[in-house]
Amino acid sequence: MNIAAHFPLNATASPTSNEARAEKLVNPGFGRVFTDHMAIAHYSDEKGWHDLAIAPRQPLTVDPACAVLHYAQEIFEGLKAYRGADGGITMFRPEANARRFRKSAERLAMPLLPEELFVESCRALVSAERDWIPTSEGGSLYLRPFMIASEIFLGVKPSSDYIYMVIASSVGAYFKGGAPAVSIWASETYTRAAPGGTGAAKCGGNYAASLIAQAEAIKLGCDQVVFLDAVERRYVEELGGMNVFFVFDDGSLATPPLSDTILAGITRDSLIALARDRGITVREEKYALDQWRADAASGRLVEAFACGTAAVVTPIGQVKASSGDFTIGSGGPGQLTMSLRESLVAIQTGAAPDPYDWLDRIA
Ligand code: PLP
Ligand code: COI
Repeated sequence: MNIAAHFPLNATASPTSNEARAEKLVNPGFGRVFTDHMAIAHYSDEKGWHDLAIAPRQPLTVDPACAVLHYAQEIFEGLKAYRGADGGITMFRPEANARRFRKSAERLAMPLLPEELFVESCRALVSAERDWIPTSEGGSLYLRPFMIASEIFLGVKPSSDYIYMVIASSVGAYFKGGAPAVSIWASETYTRAAPGGTGAAKCGGNYAASLIAQAEAIKLGCDQVVFLDAVERRYVEELGGMNVFFVFDDGSLATPPLSDTILAGITRDSLIALARDRGITVREEKYALDQWRADAASGRLVEAFACGTAAVVTPIGQVKASSGDFTIGSGGPGQLTMSLRESLVAIQTGAAPDPYDWLDRIA
């Protein structure tokens, strides 16, 4: 399919200079360095998807009565593009993000973007912004596709108009200093998602609801918050922006089962495949906070890690909770955690073969 035919490039008249870009790419951190262009498409009930383009990245002009500002009808995605060892440019599993974006849209009563338009918008933007992919180790171009309700109307109903956009950010590690192991706060007060709610959708509202607990985590010196199920307030579900895995002393792995309260992470799915292909037993089963604490104390639980596009695979060293703090293993990165991380990153960066056909080659 001809990408340019769908997302023609309307190049910026004032691109960032090579020198300024090089400076921004030295230590980009996460989510602060943005490229010169964005993908954009409009939707209306009458016209369907129209006016697709790669356009100069610029502020939006929105009416104060714009629906998204009031009722948070918004969804997003996160995926990365890499420059491989051979100089080639790839994206990791964009079709999986395209499918999840449609699921999120369905839950939020938004129009379904055809999968090929989602993937094309990302490909076209990465093609235009290839010079923004950091070449440093651990660097990538983080893509943030999102859709907002743009009807100017205060009635509570699904919007008739939407804007879909993709912005790109040159990134390094999500956690400051690459964090060898993070500490997490298990919130026993706030929950993130309830059965029948939007927990399995990637909508901004879920993150807004998580921020008070994330603020508590930061206040207590933790990096992230982990949420328990909203019904029994016992079972570990996921972090504010990452899934969670547990490693046991028999070499097996466990992760909470998918449900309508957990985001089906693409990193989670990839790690399950990698681990199972190594012959490792992976159980998708409920795991209670109390059990986690007891297993960490007895030594049955030897490692734990968080995973996601932004966080990749990040060891969890400490867990704090009102019901009692505990340390996992030695409090540092675990062996299986790091070896799974290495296998995943090797495929993502083209350093190892891609037997699963996960990479989408752009150039
Ligand atoms: N859970 C939540 C709430 C997230 O925001 C993310 C990040 O996207 C994940 C899990 C991990 O998903 P993925 O691996 O697809 O990035
Ligand atoms: C991602 O990993 O893509 C996310 O959306 C999570 C967020 C913590 C940045």
